Amino acid sequence: MKMRAQLFLGACALILAASVGSSLAADGGLPKLKEKKTYKVGFSQTESNNPWRLAETESVKQEAAKRGWQLVYTDAAGSAAKQVADVNSMIAQQVDVILLAPREEKPLVPAVMAAKKAGIPVILLDRRVDPVAKPGRDYLTFIGSDFVEEGKRAADWLAKATNGKATIIELEGTTGSSPANDRHAGFAEELKKYPDMKVVASQSGDFARDKGRQVAETLLQAHPDATAIYAHNDEMALGAIAALEAAGKKPGKDVTVVSIDGEKDGVQAIVDGKMGCSVECNPRLGAKAFAAIEAYAKGETIPEWIKSDDHLFDSSNAAANLASAY
Ligand code: AHR
Repeated sequence: MKMRAQLFLGACALILAASVGSSLAADGGLPKLKEKKTYKVGFSQTESNNPWRLAETESVKQEAAKRGWQLVYTDAAGSAAKQVADVNSMIAQQVDVILLAPREEKPLVPAVMAAKKAGIPVILLDRRVDPVAKPGRDYLTFIGSDFVEEGKRAADWLAKATNGKATIIELEGTTGSSPANDRHAGFAEELKKYPDMKVVASQSGDFARDKGRQVAETLLQAHPDATAIYAHNDEMALGAIAALEAAGKKPGKDVTVVSIDGEKDGVQAIVDGKMGCSVECNPRLGAKAFAAIEAYAKGETIPEWIKSDDHLFDSSNAAANLASAY
C-alpha cells in the first residue's frame, strides 16, 4: 500500500515537473524562490542508523520549529531508490525548497534534476552528488565539511602518533557516497608523504558500527600485523575497537585507531584511551541551511559551498568536549 502511494506520488511529481518545470527553469538556471513569511521545506534524510544522522535531523527539525516553517521529512532507510522516490513525493507535495542529504553520488543526480525541472531549488546537505550536477546551476549550494581534508588530517595525526610507520586497515564508508570517496582519496594523498605508512586492506563497513566490527574482524584475521585502523566514521571505529578487543588486542596500545565525526561515544573512546583521534565532521547544519534559504529568497548571492569549520578531537581536548558531543 505504502509502495503504491509512493509510486503514485512519484508519477505526480514527474507530471508536475513536465508541466511547470520547463517554464520555471527555461534559461537552464536555478529555480527562483519568492520571499515569504514561512516556507514548506522538504528534508530528505538518507538513513537514521547512527548518532551523526540523528543529530543532523534534530538540528533541521529544531530550526524549522524555531522559525515556524513547515517541514516535510523523509528517511530513505539506507536506500538510494527510496530516496529518489522521497524527493519525487516532495515535488508532488509542492514544497518550496528541498534539503537533500544524498546517500550516494550518482543515483541521486536524477532527483536533483527532477526538482530543478519542477522549479524547486535544492540544497545538498552534508553529502555531494556526482559533479555532473553543478552548484549554482542544478542545485543551490552544498552545505557541509571538506571530506578530502578530513582524510588528510586523519593521516597527518596518525603519522605524528606513529613516527610515520604504520600498517593500516581502512574501513570505508558507504560505497559510492561522497564522504567515502573523498575520505579515502584525502588519506591516500597525504600518505604519499610517508613511505613507511601503508594501507594493507580497505573495505566498506557502510558507516555502521556492526558492519564495521564484522569487516574489522575479517581484516584483522588476514592482517594480524596491522598497527593502525583508519575508519571513515566513529561508528565503524567503535566496531573496530570491539573487534580488536575480541581478538585479544589493546586498542590504543597495540593498534592505533583514527576516525572521523566526533560523536559522543567516539569522544568517550578517546578519553578512555582506546581511540587516538576523531576529526570532527559537524552534523548540526540546520541553522546554516535555513539561513541560506532565507538569503536566497532575498536575492543574495549564495556561495557554491558553505563549508563547516571542523575541529579535531584527541587526548588533549576530548574530555573538555564530551559534554557538548552528540
Ligand atoms: O556524510 C557524513 C557522514 O555520513 C558521517 O561521517 C557519517 O557518520 C554519516 O553517516
